[in-house]
Formats: sequence, C-alpha cells, structure tokens
Amino acid sequence: MRSPFDSALVTNSCVLELANGERIELPAKRWAADPCLGDELMLARCSGPTLDIGCGPGRLTSELTARGISSLGIDVSRTAVRLTRLRGGSALRRDVFGRVPGEGRWQHALLADGNIGIGGDPVTLLRRVRELLAPDGRVVIEVEPGHTLRRGHVRVGDSTWFPWAWLGIGALEEIADEASLRVVWAGAHDSRHFTELAAS
Ligand SMILES: C[S@@+](CC[C@H](N)C(=O)[O-])C[C@H]1O[C@@H](n2cnc3c(N)ncnc32)[C@H](O)[C@@H]1O
Repeated sequence: MRSPFDSALVTNSCVLELANGERIELPAKRWAADPCLGDELMLARCSGPTLDIGCGPGRLTSELTARGISSLGIDVSRTAVRLTRLRGGSALRRDVFGRVPGEGRWQHALLADGNIGIGGDPVTLLRRVRELLAPDGRVVIEVEPGHTLRRGHVRVGDSTWFPWAWLGIGALEEIADEASLRVVWAGAHDSRHFTELAAS
C-alpha cells in the first residue's frame, strides 16, 4: 500500500487538501533539509533511545544517530524508510498503531512537523505513544500556534482521503490530560512551537 505522503517526500512539496476545498501547504522542503534551529530544540530533548514517529526522509533520526543517540525512525511510507536509511539513520516501515520494536522501552518519542495529526485523533495517538514509551519516557511534540484542536479528512494530490488533526498549543493541556500525560517543557522558535509530555 502506498502512503499518501510518498510523492511529497520525493518532490519536496506537500499540500493537504481538506474536504471544504481549503489547501494547507506543509513544509516538505524542511523535511528533506538538514536540521534547522527549531529542530535543534527538539533534538536537544533527546538524550537516550528515541523513536521518531512518522520520520519522513529522516533528518531527525539521522542527526540523532550522528550524535551517538540510539534512534529509530518509523514510517508507513517505503520512500521515507529508504530516504532515512540513505541518510544514515535506522528506519522501519511500521504503522505507529501496529507492532513497533521496543514497545514500552523508548526513552523519547518525537512527533515533529505536525505528526500529532497522524490518525486524526491526538488523544488516541498520545495514548498509543504512552504504550511505546518507558514509564519515565517523554514525547516531544510540535504543535500549532493557535488555541484549538481541529480534525478533518485530507488528501495529498490524488491520494485517498485520510483523517488528520492540527493541535494548537492552547488546546494541548486538555488533550494531554485526556491521554494521562502532563506538560513538562515548552519552547518556541520563530512560529514553531514545541512541547514535551510525560506520564502524569
Ligand atoms: C507531515 S509528514 C512528517 C515528516 C517528517 N517528520 C520529516 O521530518 O520529514 C508525516 C509523515 O508521517 C507518516 N505517517 C503517516 N501516518 C503514519 C502512521 N500511522 N504511522 C507511521 N507513520 C505515519 C507519513 O508517511 C509521513 O512521512
């Protein structure tokens, strides 16, 4: 099965189309580039084994590996896995909701670049991430600047429709609480917002 993001990962251009005709451009060029200053905020939170969920072309996975931090990228896209390996990172083709190696043992998980939207329901995703983490593990999430949780169906190019979500920083605490997580850190760079959650 192809991932809706496959062609975006090759062309470095990704527009999410919503059912109401709205189009939201995602920063696909950043995914393919070297880590930038905003990324550094997330990378600096990772000191032990890290699972990069929805790793795309693997800029974060490969950078952590280069720093001597054990890391694994998982992605449903074959293209993402291939590109991550080409960059020197370890990656497996896995659905975050399916079987993932090291379940219950990861020290850190990353949901970068809007990946909190995976599956279309951040509470369900965060509960799943909690299962993947060690009891004292933490998840670093990139969130949107706004105050709301938005959910909907989107497509990329001619892909089938799939559920996605956008989580605003202002809605984070309530969502974290529902997933039995609490905010332990927050940071920002330019218009990008990051936060870290631990079990409550
Ligand atoms: C918005 S892109 C993020 C790009 C990535 N963080 C990067 O640095 O390049 C979303 C990624 O999540 C992957 N993805 C979507 N659903 C997934 C799932 N259920 N499990 C694992 N990966 C998934 C997509 O294939 C895509 O590569």
